[in-house]
Order: sequence, then C-alpha cells, then structure tokens
Amino acid sequence: MVQSRVLSGVQPTGALHLGNWLGAIRNWVELQHDHDTFFCVVDLHAITVPHDPHRLAEDTLSTAALYLACGIDPKCSTVFVQSHVQAHAELCWLLNCVTPLNWVERMIQFKEKAVKQGDNVSVGLLDYPVLMAADILLYDADLVPVGEDQKQHLELARDIAQQRINARFGSDDAPVLKVPKPLILKEGARVMSLTDGRSKMSKSDPNEGSRIALLDAPELITKKIKRAKTDPQMGLEFDNPERPETENLLGLYAILSGKGRQAAAEECAEMGWGKFKPLLAEAAVTALEPIQTRYRELIQDRAELNRVLVDGRDRANAVAEATVARVRSSLGFLGTP
Ligand code: TYM
Repeated sequence: MVQSRVLSGVQPTGALHLGNWLGAIRNWVELQHDHDTFFCVVDLHAITVPHDPHRLAEDTLSTAALYLACGIDPKCSTVFVQSHVQAHAELCWLLNCVTPLNWVERMIQFKEKAVKQGDNVSVGLLDYPVLMAADILLYDADLVPVGEDQKQHLELARDIAQQRINARFGSDDAPVLKVPKPLILKEGARVMSLTDGRSKMSKSDPNEGSRIALLDAPELITKKIKRAKTDPQMGLEFDNPERPETENLLGLYAILSGKGRQAAAEECAEMGWGKFKPLLAEAAVTALEPIQTRYRELIQDRAELNRVLVDGRDRANAVAEATVARVRSSLGFLGTP
C-alpha cells in the first residue's frame, strides 16, 4: 500500500520552544509510523532575517538533534537539512516567476516581521512563503503538520500549486504538482506567550521569560512558570475569552501532564495560582526531561548525526530532483542533451 506523504520543518533560529514541540514536532512523531515522512531543518528560511554566521551551522545541527530527541526515528523518517538539497532553491525560483506579488505582500507573518525589521527587510523575507511552498511541493506532500500560525502559508502553497502551476501547465488527468493539505491539531496548535496570553509564544520575542525552551534547565522552567502572567480570579477554566492566560496555562497543563482537557479542568476548577503553578512546572519538567537527556547524548555523537543527515539528504534529493525535473519540463525548458 502506498503511504501518504508528510513534510514539515522548523527554522534553526534560536532555541526551539514548547510551541514548536506541541504545535508541530510532537505530531510528526505520531505520523511517522504510518506515513512516508520527511522532516527538514529549514536553514534557508533562517537567513530571511539578519543571522549570525557563526551560529547557523551549530543551530542547524542542534535542531536536527532535537528532532531525534523528540522521537523522530531516522529509520522511519527522512531527516535532512534544506540547504543540502539544491532543488529547494531552484523550485523556489520557478514558483517565484508565477506567483503574483500581491499574494506574498498580504501574508500576515511578512507584515508582522517587516514591521520589526524596519528599513532592513530583505527580498528573502517577502519570498519566505514561496520557498516554503517549494519545500512542500517538491515532495508531493499530502499532509503538512504545522501550528495554527502557518495556515495562511499553507493556503498560499495550495494556490500556487493549483492555480499557478497545474491550471496553466498541467492537465486534469496529469497535474504537475500534488496539492497539499495542512494538518493542524486542535490541542497545542497555538501555544501563547507566558507573559501575554494574547500573543503567540515565539522565538523572536526579546523577553526570554515569554517562552519555555525545550532545553531549559528544570530550575529555569520553574522560575519562568512562577513569573508567568495570570489573572486575579480563583479557579481555572477553559473557554473564558476574558482569561487568555488561564486558557493557555491550563491548556499546557492538560497536554504536558497527559491528563487531557476535561480531567485537567476538573482537577483545577477550584485551584488558586499558588497551587497550580508548581503542578504545571512539575508537568513541564517531567515531560521535557527525557527529551533533554536524549539530546545530550545525541549532540555529542557528531558522526552519527552527520550520518543521519547525509542519508536523509540522499533520500530527499532523489524525490526532490524528480519533481523539479517534472516542473522544468512542464514549463518548457530545454532539457540537458
Ligand atoms: P518556525 O520555526 O517558526 O515554526 C516551526 C513550527 O512550530 C509551529 N509553532 C507553533 N505552534 C504552536 N504554538 C506556537 N506558539 C508556535 N510557534 C511555532 C509552527 O506553526 C511550525 O509548524 N514557516 C515554518 C517553517 C517551514 C515549514 C516549511 C513548515 C519552512 N518550510 C515547510 C512546514 C513545511 C515555520 O513556521 O517555522
């Protein structure tokens, strides 16, 4: 039986946090047993904002090690680095030339990031979602597991594939590109900042206290949760729009403790923050402990990590090269003699 194909990725910018794990990587782990899964470290995306060249390689390796530490098994999944597969850059260019400028100009993430960059916005930042479309379309992915914030980028990838490539250069019975679907789970799809329950937990927030990094030490996790913003009300509950911090912290507890929403809501219905916060801290420390232990082992074995990435690159290349050749030919390029 042909398994459906899954592709996703995380940028190696700064430390990966609870949002990246709960919104994305945790779901990848579930999918890898009954899907054909490709997970890349999207280092080309990491340079769309100013970056430190002395850190990029190390952050890329560390992100790959975190994928494995979170439970991605290279025997089931293809794990690779985006810049090691040149077809990503080539397909991005081909897609650039058929994507209307106003489609990318209206992307919410571009607008948000552009405001932060001021005069320093690069063409690459505007082009970010087209490169992301190339990542996905190269692998004929059926499903793309991501957090809620990536929904608009996924819609763009679908529109480029359908309206700009298949409709113009393919036929109904022979589409050039597979049109992918987002996979956004309800739980964990939008983890919010610890310091503001109305904004997303993000790697780029200058306040480190706003996020829990997957590699934060237990004492730091406890400290960040202790300082997390709350509200003056007693008792925790879901679905009260006046209490975004409660929604977020109780939601995190439900997932990290493994108890689920209903049991967590019942347990904490009468609880004050002074009792709840240590419980949440313990759940977070316990959930992250096996990932941290495994990460420390993996990051020391560079030879093994490199072997995984070389093997991943070869497997990814084989699929990606075939797709880009198909697109080149449908666009009418002269083939190499
Ligand atoms: P990045 O690195 O910003 O985020 C990686 C993944 O983490 C999810 N995520 C969150 N989920 C829940 N709550 C949050 N606070 C939170 N913050 C981040 C993101 O939705 C994402 O799934 N553009 C992508 C990287 C990318 C990609 C791709 C993804 C490049 N090419 C192809 C899928 C397929 C991104 O957001 O990276």
